[in-house]
Amino acid sequence: MSETSTYAYFEGNFVPLEEAKISIMTHAFLYGTAVFEGVRAYWNGKKEDLYLFRLRDHIERMYDSMKIMHLELKYSVDEVCKLAIELVRRNQPRTDTYVRPGVYKAAQRIGPGLQDNPSQLYIFTVPFGDYFHGAPGLKVQISSWRRVEDNAIPARGKIVGAYANTALAKTEAYNAGFDDCIMLSEDGHVSEGSAMNLFMVRKGKLVTTGATDNILEGITRNTVIELAAAELGLQTEVRHIDRSELFLAEEIFFTGTGAQITPVIEVDHRPIGTGEPGPVSNKMKTTYIAICRGENPKYRHWLTPVYSSRESQVGASHS
Ligand SMILES: Cc1ncc(COP(=O)(O)O)c(C=O)c1O
Repeated sequence: MSETSTYAYFEGNFVPLEEAKISIMTHAFLYGTAVFEGVRAYWNGKKEDLYLFRLRDHIERMYDSMKIMHLELKYSVDEVCKLAIELVRRNQPRTDTYVRPGVYKAAQRIGPGLQDNPSQLYIFTVPFGDYFHGAPGLKVQISSWRRVEDNAIPARGKIVGAYANTALAKTEAYNAGFDDCIMLSEDGHVSEGSAMNLFMVRKGKLVTTGATDNILEGITRNTVIELAAAELGLQTEVRHIDRSELFLAEEIFFTGTGAQITPVIEVDHRPIGTGEPGPVSNKMKTTYIAICRGENPKYRHWLTPVYSSRESQVGASHS
């Protein structure tokens, strides 16, 4: 059993990772014309199994992103799920792992057009720990960069080129000494974090920004909305959030495949609530992680066990 990944899925085959290489003339490299997903697989040492979290939902969202970007594959959603499971099995990780499937425009030519431009699928895996290096709560800034608008590059699609926007915002925050940032839309309302959605608790209510606030419609966001109602007895209000509401919130937390549930304890040098992770954030975090690790049978339908079942069961889609 190796701790590092060995194989990738590339141009229709499982190949050693070091052989999965594209030309510098590839369209996706020249113009950012690719989409991707990030799926976490959680290692459970007691059960000696690895659980992919909401695999099918991620692949379905990748197909939505592909539709926006005129990308097409000969595979079905289920076939891509099976390829992802097969790749993880081949790599045999016994640790938390990130699975990255992506689809890209593979023509080798000059000119940004998406037409007459073949699409290719790739998948690779890497070991993946805590996205924020174990920080219990984040100090963030409101970015001076605005989130990409739906009529420019739709944030609803997980489009590679759009991550230049994310990279500028994240780097600005890092250079200014913050852990991360919150991005606003051009209309001045809160959109999301650099690669995560945002929730706040204000006057005892759980609130998150809407699908039309230039966000990626997060799978963790959807999970949290469901868990808040079922496990914490909290309905989520989905609405615009003003910048100044953030300063007055009792709690703020980010959600995302990478970020999982990460409390925000300071925004633009103002402590949020007590300045410590609050009770809703903490409860949500422990509930979420227990589910991801396969410790809550009620939510097993969100998990795809990699080793314990030989059949390629791919998990249920969005409720
Ligand atoms: C821009 C952006 N927003 C939000 C998210 C959170 O989405 P999810 O919970 O589906 O990972 C991500 C990460 O995937 C992201 O890249």
